[in-house]
Amino acid sequence: MRKPIIAGNWKMNKTIKEGLEFVESIKGKTDDNVETLICAPFTLLKDLKEATKGTNIKIGAQNMHFENSGAFTGEVAPANLVEIEMDYVIIGHSERREMFNETDESCNKKVLKAIEVGINPILCCGETLEEREANETMKKVESQVSKGLLNVDPKDLEKVVIAYEPIWAIGTGKTATAQQANEVISYIRSVVRNMFGDLADSVRIQYGGSVKPANVAEIMGQSDIDGALVGGASLKADDFLGLLKF
Ligand code: 13P
Repeated sequence: MRKPIIAGNWKMNKTIKEGLEFVESIKGKTDDNVETLICAPFTLLKDLKEATKGTNIKIGAQNMHFENSGAFTGEVAPANLVEIEMDYVIIGHSERREMFNETDESCNKKVLKAIEVGINPILCCGETLEEREANETMKKVESQVSKGLLNVDPKDLEKVVIAYEPIWAIGTGKTATAQQANEVISYIRSVVRNMFGDLADSVRIQYGGSVKPANVAEIMGQSDIDGALVGGASLKADDFLGLLKF
């Protein structure tokens, strides 16, 4: 049984004060049957982690370097996330791939490093509008997922979450239909199955791209969709609670 995972990706939004107000207003209202995760900007993480101790709300980062330490100005080391007890780290979000030159190779190094230090990676994948229109969606996600999961030890596979986020549906209000999302996510599971056999059944695969309270039920009702990675609609506590109650 794969436990559903609903994650908010706050991207570059909220101050510490705003983040703390948010968690105060959702505390006690989350459900043990749904894994609840907030991925916030780095400077909020320590406070959010402390504020959610003893609750079932998990906290994650949105990026991490793959080296342990060194001359990488502006980057954040794995140990820095470990010392503040991060549960998850998003790896290879399309915004990072498109604007900050992340590659499948750097994402793979980050996935392996996150597992090594005990933080669960959320590996993102997804096609552009041009790729979808050229019927290259499956080819694109197959390449991203197979390269991203290269050399993952099968015993660690269940720690990995995959997020399928079609780039054309992010922040645009255009959602892939639940069926379109499920079709690609089923295919992603078959890619994982080719690499890891039936362990693929233990991997949770989220959909992301304009998920909101009004469409989350249909998305979560699909056979292969195990969760959602949500940007805009995760910023308001009421909307986020609506997502959790799919
Ligand atoms: P939106 O929910 O704002 O479309 O963002 C999706 C996303 O990029 C989550 O990582």
